[in-house]
Amino acid sequence: MDEFFYITTPIYYVNDEPHIGHAYTTILADVLARFARLRGRPTFFLTGVDEHGQKVQNAARKLDLDPQTYVNDMALRWQDTWKRLNISYDYFIRTTQSRHAKVVEHILQNLWQRGEIYRGEYEGWYCVADERFWTEKDLVDGLCPECGRPVERIVEANYFFRMSAYQDWLVDYIHTHPGFIRPEWRRNEVLGFLRQPLEDLCISRPASRLSWGIPLPFDPAYVTYVWFDALLNYVTAAGYLQKAPLPPASFETVWPSAIHLIGKDILTTHSVYWLTMLKAAGLPQPKGIFAHGWWVLEGAKISKSRGGTVKPLELADVYSVDAFRYFLLRDMTLGQDAEFSRERLDSRYHVDLANNLGNLLQRLAQLVTRRGGTIPQPGEETDLEQQLRGLCTSLPQQVFDLVEDFAVNQALERIFDALTAVNQYLENTAPWKASKAGGPTPGAPEGVARLGTILYTACEALRLCSVLLAPVIPKKAAEVWQRLGWQPPEPLAQGLAWGGLQPGAPVTVGDPLFPRKEEVRE
Ligand code: MSP
Repeated sequence: MDEFFYITTPIYYVNDEPHIGHAYTTILADVLARFARLRGRPTFFLTGVDEHGQKVQNAARKLDLDPQTYVNDMALRWQDTWKRLNISYDYFIRTTQSRHAKVVEHILQNLWQRGEIYRGEYEGWYCVADERFWTEKDLVDGLCPECGRPVERIVEANYFFRMSAYQDWLVDYIHTHPGFIRPEWRRNEVLGFLRQPLEDLCISRPASRLSWGIPLPFDPAYVTYVWFDALLNYVTAAGYLQKAPLPPASFETVWPSAIHLIGKDILTTHSVYWLTMLKAAGLPQPKGIFAHGWWVLEGAKISKSRGGTVKPLELADVYSVDAFRYFLLRDMTLGQDAEFSRERLDSRYHVDLANNLGNLLQRLAQLVTRRGGTIPQPGEETDLEQQLRGLCTSLPQQVFDLVEDFAVNQALERIFDALTAVNQYLENTAPWKASKAGGPTPGAPEGVARLGTILYTACEALRLCSVLLAPVIPKKAAEVWQRLGWQPPEPLAQGLAWGGLQPGAPVTVGDPLFPRKEEVRE
């Protein structure tokens, strides 16, 4: 069996509205999952929401709702957004599910019994918004270094996970597993962080201050720190301790293949807290962690407060869901930050999607319609056809390799280069000049055959490219297939071989695939 592909997104804080940053991580995971499925790999794609903690408790209180009612409503909103953006997740986890609470309690109890968790006194600066303690030297001008808000001095008894005991192990693990944290410079960042002595991790909050969490099984006067709870979602969903696992395979098969897709802001929690937690619990490590950059507006991270300007669903309404998905993946380079701009979205829409792809389909469908309306029989190939066919048949492997390397933007570039080559091929062969001198003459047998070869080759190249685009623009790709009279085979990977179009299949000219937009609204 092909290697299992288990891809996760962070579970999002349920008190936030989905914005472009969340949409990006989720769409990227969706595209990676769809590519894995296209390659025939057994796949499990997980996303969900992080429902416990101070922020959620506060948000519910503001609305005068009990937290459970509040999170039930918010979880639906997140699910609606993902449905609208065509996210093909296999499971949506919620940390208030009892299956998850059982896993968290089991791990806590186990670590407590083995002395990996101990009771101690905590004194520090606490940021309510980020739910994090900071040391004196972390503070910037006395304020939270992450969000700039005021912090509170708190002294209290708490429970601690002996994270410091795993520092040497962790450094060694990262050194001996070179591709584990990607991109490379993020891995170095983690190693840099680990040059300082690692402290133990406070994993509890007194229930008197924060009641909205999973109670510690060995001391119900405390609830579990939200990150300790949240990170464990990845093993819950992989079927840990459950008789009927959610994924289509056992926990032992699924879990070690996990790839955590995260934003750079949560790299430490994933590469330090999470890996040491797994180690202490005696669980295997995931396959890897990939940290992408941020979408920024004039250099600053797009977040809740700045998210109002970039609401994913509004953009998807204007440009279509597929165009929005394409733009996000095409414009962000592996691991780096990307500046969001409406002009760039508009330009990608018109140059790549409306012109290169949409016009090509329109042009071809019209040409085919003029000569009978069905896919023609191809005749003998010249060098031009052979070149284009060679380019298209080598494309799937190149695209898969780039995607495997998280370079989705480059993979898309290759596919659109191929579409440019198809457009160029049409310029070179000029089928529309068919009746003019020098061109293939309709009516003359060699002219008919030549024209058939040209149209077949161009349509087939477009079809093949559209199969590779399906993970990113699933609806529009299916529209291309329908117009070219092509029924996608099961499994779809068979459609990556040259020669899928059947001569005689009916071709239809429809409305433009990506209609031009008159103006860019700011
Ligand atoms: N609940 C935690 C994660 C727990 S995972 C066990 C959390 N949630 S969050 O709602 O704040 O979402 C964080 C994730 O959203 C980031 O890691 C990133 O993937 C994505 N993004 C949020 N803003 C972003 C941008 N402006 N740009 C790109 N992605 C960012 O942290």
